[in-house]
Amino acid sequence: MPLIVPIESLQPGMKVAGDVLGDGGQLLLARGARLSHQRIESLRRYGILSIKVLLPSDEEEADEALVPSNIALKVRRQIREIYDFARSKKALPEEVLYEVTEEIASIIEGIFSASNLVFSDMKHLANYDEYTYEHSWMATLFSLALMRVAAEEGLVVYPDFQTRLDLGIGALLHDIGKMRILPEILNKPGPLSAEEWEIMKMHPQWGWEMVRKNSTIMPLARGIVLHHHQRWDGTGYGPASGILLKGGEIPEVVRLVTIADTYDALISDRPYRPAFLPVEALEILKEEAGTKLDPNLAPLMSEIAIDYPTGCVVISRDGAIVNVNAPSRRGGPIRGLVIGSISERSWALVGKEAEIPRSSIRCGGNSLDNLARRLKRRPEEVSSIAQIDCNLSLKALPPWQKLLERALKPLIQG
Ligand SMILES: [Fe+2]
Repeated sequence: MPLIVPIESLQPGMKVAGDVLGDGGQLLLARGARLSHQRIESLRRYGILSIKVLLPSDEEEADEALVPSNIALKVRRQIREIYDFARSKKALPEEVLYEVTEEIASIIEGIFSASNLVFSDMKHLANYDEYTYEHSWMATLFSLALMRVAAEEGLVVYPDFQTRLDLGIGALLHDIGKMRILPEILNKPGPLSAEEWEIMKMHPQWGWEMVRKNSTIMPLARGIVLHHHQRWDGTGYGPASGILLKGGEIPEVVRLVTIADTYDALISDRPYRPAFLPVEALEILKEEAGTKLDPNLAPLMSEIAIDYPTGCVVISRDGAIVNVNAPSRRGGPIRGLVIGSISERSWALVGKEAEIPRSSIRCGGNSLDNLARRLKRRPEEVSSIAQIDCNLSLKALPPWQKLLERALKPLIQG
């Protein structure tokens, strides 16, 4: 069976077990090629993190287990898709995102070297529920990024490749059991009834039953599927047995996925509530550290996530509506374009670039639509601005006028 070897452990003379492709799908090394110092160096320059090689004993009979190059190319495309999706969500800084998607590339290749059942499960999930599919990829990205930062901070020992593989597979499949739940329940716009909630709580157990049939998924990965809704304080749900783990009894990889899962759910628009801004989601994680979530690992999300991502819209206490257009330094002011003002006395002129201290941000959303949904649900978030300015008016840049009017309707009418 081919072995995945990280780039730093490759040795001249090893035989390549599958075509090695670059980001654009170009062939870097054909399967069957022998490695040399030069070739290893060249792979390193292309940013390849690991490749599959044959063990000497397997070289003769391994042909059947090899991944055909057309499948490997599909893997590369899939990675590109994940990367683009995550980038559009602006959830992680570019350099972290790049590193983690590269890690996922080796994980996906790892899955392929053993079985393509995981991939077919994911394909079914994509067809069944798009949100859960995308959420699963984001949870995987966040889990791997968290693992790296936790290791850098000395909170965990950086695990070997197999454990990272298990973490990736477990995160990818953590919600696979939701395929047994009707879409009407999964995407219900309002709160679930007690009966529906009981069904929802079955998904870790159902997911575990599904992945248990796949012998290539290791117990650690299966454990993530079964236990990802168990909380640090011993509450939560998961196994049908009702036996719950607590604190350090919950494997580290499970605790990481639980944090990543919680964070992505918070920053996503759901039918029953609009998304939170990352900065708010990070606060929630900190509040839940020690109760629902691992007290040491949960705050780490703040180290990697972008709290006010480019594209989000915030309203200052002075009534300036700002479209964030530049990454901000941690704790530093938010920079963006003032697209409107809801106060005659706003300090910022519409159309100007502005810098707002974080302390003067009143509310916001990851987009104008999101902000509109939030204001509709909770107009009190901005009501004090309305109280200050009795003659409330809206000034806006022409291209934003209609969008802003719609977004701020609850307030303007007030
Ligand atoms: Fe879940």
